[in-house]
Amino acid sequence: MPELARLLRGAQAAGKRSGEPMSRRYSAYSAALVVSVCLLIVVFSHQLGGAGTALDRSALLDLGRTIQGWSSSEDDGVDGSGRAALIQAVVAEQRLLVAREMAGYRYPEGRYNISARSLADLVPEQGGEPVRNVVITTWRSGSTFLGDVLNSHPANFYHYEPLLDYDIVQVRGGPLGARAVSTMRALLNCNYSALDHYLDYGKDHVWLFTHNTRLWEQCQRHPHICWLPAFLTPFCRLFPFQSMKVVRLRLALVEEMLADPRLKVRVLLLVRDPRGTLQSRKHRDWCPGNPDCMEPARLCADLVADYGAALRLSSKYPDRFKAVRYEDLSVEPYRGVKELFQFFGLDFHPSVQAFLDTHTKVNVGGVSSTYRNSKSAPFHWRQDLTHREVRAIQRVCRPAMGYWGYRRAVNSSHQREFDPLGEFRLA
Ligand SMILES: *[C@@H]1O[C@H](CO)[C@@H](O)[C@H](O)[C@H]1NC(C)=O
Ligand SMILES: *[C@@H]1O[C@H](CO)[C@@H](O)[C@H](O)[C@H]1NC(C)=O
Ligand SMILES: *[C@@H]1O[C@H](CO)[C@@H](O)[C@H](O)[C@H]1NC(C)=O
Repeated sequence: MPELARLLRGAQAAGKRSGEPMSRRYSAYSAALVVSVCLLIVVFSHQLGGAGTALDRSALLDLGRTIQGWSSSEDDGVDGSGRAALIQAVVAEQRLLVAREMAGYRYPEGRYNISARSLADLVPEQGGEPVRNVVITTWRSGSTFLGDVLNSHPANFYHYEPLLDYDIVQVRGGPLGARAVSTMRALLNCNYSALDHYLDYGKDHVWLFTHNTRLWEQCQRHPHICWLPAFLTPFCRLFPFQSMKVVRLRLALVEEMLADPRLKVRVLLLVRDPRGTLQSRKHRDWCPGNPDCMEPARLCADLVADYGAALRLSSKYPDRFKAVRYEDLSVEPYRGVKELFQFFGLDFHPSVQAFLDTHTKVNVGGVSSTYRNSKSAPFHWRQDLTHREVRAIQRVCRPAMGYWGYRRAVNSSHQREFDPLGEFRLA
């Protein structure tokens, strides 16, 4: 591409020197020709990951027109070759968008134990190894926010709730567990070839994809290719950062993923006070009637089991496993997210900063003002639940709360003003 830029400059200079209308026109034609050739290369070359920025804008515009041409015939049912061409063009367009998002990015270059120094080092389609992060948690634990924070990082591909098609069920092991982990691995490897159930479910439950904003933008423009493995696999393979959040799988089951040296995945366990989780679930219409969602005993048995798994994983994979409490993150979102990004091997990019600026309220008084503020989401349960309800939860959740450092409310006035956060340690 630099050679082409030089050629263009040369042609312009030649036109200026001669000063003749005829040769100016000639040089304009030759420049147009060079540009067209260049665009063709951009459109049809798969090798061109790091497209230069100078031609980005015009290349994208041209691609947009090309794609529009193909797209307009989509409704009439494009034949196989038309569809393949459309997929190729959309993938080529996204390749440029990824390169644009990554302009000026601070590559790890050895920080966070990641050696990557260029986009190609991270992009699967170019033989690179993406940064893969998984958040394990359960329903109503603040993971939507955390997932969206991760997705505010440049060029992130967000595998939102890969087990959405399992319905309101916790996966704790057995054949279901094996199937769940294999789905998660397939997605983290951008292999959509055997995910029919996942994809069929998504067609009627589009929020499977809507949180994956970069994918969803293309899906809205090209609904006919959105759910096709032939599109999703190459599209996913463009992205240097792959994140996933899962609310339906217990922590012990991710150990085999952590153990896989080719996956190099980092896993975060996000924990929330069971009183807050259960209060929040009360307001969801999909929860009642599903014991894995409604029963405090099940939630807290999972919290105890997760603690045991967290102990084991944090000693075995100290650099690739971490546990964090939702309340700690909410009380100090900037510090919390910065630490998490460090752990995940992600740059605390201005786009992340901007996301936090618009999605969190600064709590001037720090911890104490936050937990005293009844409006602050993590502590809402203290006003919303009766002391009777809280006592019932505390009765079955005593061990879980002890392990994760949540203090008990002793009476109803205490409940409304105490700081529920004690210490927890994974040692
Ligand atoms: C870095 O990664 C290698 C394997 O990829 C691992 O053996 C080593 O413990 C890691 N070191 C740190 C500090 O994360
Ligand atoms: C993708 O997954 C399928 C089914 O599990 C498998 O047969 C195939 O080898 C995988 N492809 C790649 C490139 O790993
Ligand atoms: C509630 O508990 C607190 C803390 O133990 C105690 O100081 C207070 O007297 C109790 N209030 C009532 C009404 O029992």
